[in-house]
Formats: sequence, C-alpha cells, structure tokens
Amino acid sequence: MKALILSGGKGTRLRPITHTNAKQLIPIANKPILFYGIEAIKEAGITDIGIIVGETREDVKQAVGNGDKWGVKITYIEQDEPLGLAHAVKIAEDFIGRDSFVMYLGDNLIKDGIKALVTEFKQNKPNAQILLAKVPHPEQFGVAELANGKVIRLEEKPVYPKSDLALVGVYMFDSSIFDAVKNIRPSSRNELEITDAIQYLIDQKKVVHPHVVTGWWKDTGKLEDMLEANSIILDTFTFKNEGRVDSASKIEGKVVIEKGAVIEGSTVRGPAIIGENARIINSYIGPYTSVYFGSHIESSEIEHSIILENSQIVDIKRIADSLIGQNVEIVKSHTRPQAYRIMVGDSSKIEII
Ligand code: TTP
Repeated sequence: MKALILSGGKGTRLRPITHTNAKQLIPIANKPILFYGIEAIKEAGITDIGIIVGETREDVKQAVGNGDKWGVKITYIEQDEPLGLAHAVKIAEDFIGRDSFVMYLGDNLIKDGIKALVTEFKQNKPNAQILLAKVPHPEQFGVAELANGKVIRLEEKPVYPKSDLALVGVYMFDSSIFDAVKNIRPSSRNELEITDAIQYLIDQKKVVHPHVVTGWWKDTGKLEDMLEANSIILDTFTFKNEGRVDSASKIEGKVVIEKGAVIEGSTVRGPAIIGENARIINSYIGPYTSVYFGSHIESSEIEHSIILENSQIVDIKRIADSLIGQNVEIVKSHTRPQAYRIMVGDSSKIEII
C-alpha cells in the first residue's frame, strides 16, 4: 500500500501567511503540520509516500527531503495548478500504479493516527473507505448521507446538509478511483471534487465504507482551527527544559523549553513551547502558546498564539489568539508623532484596542 499526501493548494483562508509560506509547513506545537501526517502514515506501516506539491514546492521539498529522517521514501508529484483533490489523485496515477493507497490532506491532524483505519481497510477490502466526523457546521465541508451503515450520497459544501457527518481529510482507495477521477467534470468552483469521484464509485455500485471518527480531528485550514490544533497538541506535552531559565523566572505546568532557548525575568504558564534559541525576556507567555525558533519576546505578554521563527515582539501589552509570521516585528514606537506605523502584507488582519 502507498500513501499520497496533498501539500499543494492555495491556502486562501490563511492569507497573508500563505502568500509566502506553505500552510502545511506552519508549525503546530513547533512541528510543521505536514510532519504529523508523515509520521501517522509511517506508523501505519506505509513507507512509499507521494507528496503533491504546488507553488510552494521548493519549501516543501527542502523541509521534507527524501524522507530519510522518517525512514520513508518520498516521491514529489508536481501539480501545476490547484485544480482539486480529485485532480491530485489523477496526476498521481503513475506513482500509485495498481496499488491501494491512503490519501491524506497535508493540513489535517487526526488524533489516533491512521493505523487502525489502514488495518480495517486491508481486512474489508472495500473500493474506498472514507472517514467521517460529526461537525457543528457541515455546510463548510464535504457531507455524507448514510443509510443502513452505507454511504449513499456525498455533497461538497452543501447549502442544506443532509447530515452533520463531514468528510475528514483521510481517504483510502483501491485503483478504481482512477476510473472515477477521469469520469467527473469540474465543479462550479472549477475543481475536480473528490466527493464527486466517490459519488461516481457509489453510482457504479462500488463499495464505499464509512468510518466515523471518535477521537478529535482538525482541518487546520483556518486560523481558529490552527490555534485549536496547537492547543490540543500542547496539552499532550510534559515539562521538559533543554534551555536556560534564570532564577527570576517562573515556569508553571506543561512547558517545553527547547535547546538554546533563554528565559529571563519571565513567567511561562503552560501548556506552551519555547523554540530553539528563542529569547523570552521580562515577559509573560500564557497557556496554549508556541514560540518557534529564534524569536525574541521582550516586555510583552502573549497567550493562545503561534509565533513563527525569528520574529520580535517588544513592549507590547498583550497579544492573544494570534498567528504571527516569520521575521515579523511588533514593537512599541517611542518616536513622535505617536502613531501606529504599519507595513503589513496583503490580506492581513489587525485588531487594535
Ligand atoms: P483545501 O484546504 O481544501 O484547499 P486550499 O489549500 O486551496 O485552501 P483554501 O480553501 O483556504 O484556499 O485543501 C486541502 C489540502 O489539499 C491542503 O493540504 C492543500 C491540498 N490541495 C492540493 O494539494 N491540491 C489541490 O488542488 C487542492 C484543492 C488542495
């Protein structure tokens, strides 16, 4: 069995971060989201992995490499334009061949991994196995309608959902999916939809098994989901200090301090992670915060946020519920006239008090 991870796409919902970064490489608890997927696939015993890459191909290739660090073999598959999940399957046919495969959306996280699901798929040998989760807003997802334990209909982002069961970003297919992706037409948003391809399998009387996920699952496509995923992962940590904390600092609860990090005159209240060579000076880092490597926080308070690498936050009263990109500077101005001086990228959002 092989695996196909989708790491292309546009990431419009996470702009401006995705103007310059692959969303799949945004760190959740200081580890790129994509790495969680690779680890879950490896844990299920699959080592032959294709990764669909788009505009951010160079960054993804640089971060993941040939897969040696996980003991897997990575093949990159170029998608010139993000023409849909089923389009990604279509262009992966040469790589997959006649094998069965797991398709894993590179911005998804699934608590219990996929080992049990892969075993179930191998035992039952359906043509497709889809994962479903009960969600509060099914209209934002692909939605499944079940009858007598079988999938009878799928719809992509329906205005009037027939159930609250959303498709989770992990699918298993045998090679009949290739026939399906060749027989569907682009949707109104001009994408080849995986829901249409699976619906085609159902119409062809192929066997599509549903599996309802009970543990948590997160599609990190939006800011709130990313912060929630970050919180969930940080909660699983235990205290670890590989950095340097001075005697004037207080570290409370589940806090991970990575190599070379320095904490002086500060309080860090976990769950939180302070990345390699980050510096926290005279500050408060509150629960559910991840500070990535090389960032510098001084005389500021931050909680429930993700700060990417090499950013600086100095003299800022309080930041919460935020995602801050790489090499960002947020500092207090001491010059006159007193004013907000902002150089901010397209599609940014700033809420000022
Ligand atoms: P989505 O989150 O559905 O799409 P997107 O990344 O374009 O984001 P947005 O809706 O905010 O514009 O994609 C799910 C995953 O699949 C994600 O990891 C990107 C990837 N993907 C591809 O690799 N190729 C594609 O053609 C599409 C649509 C998505």
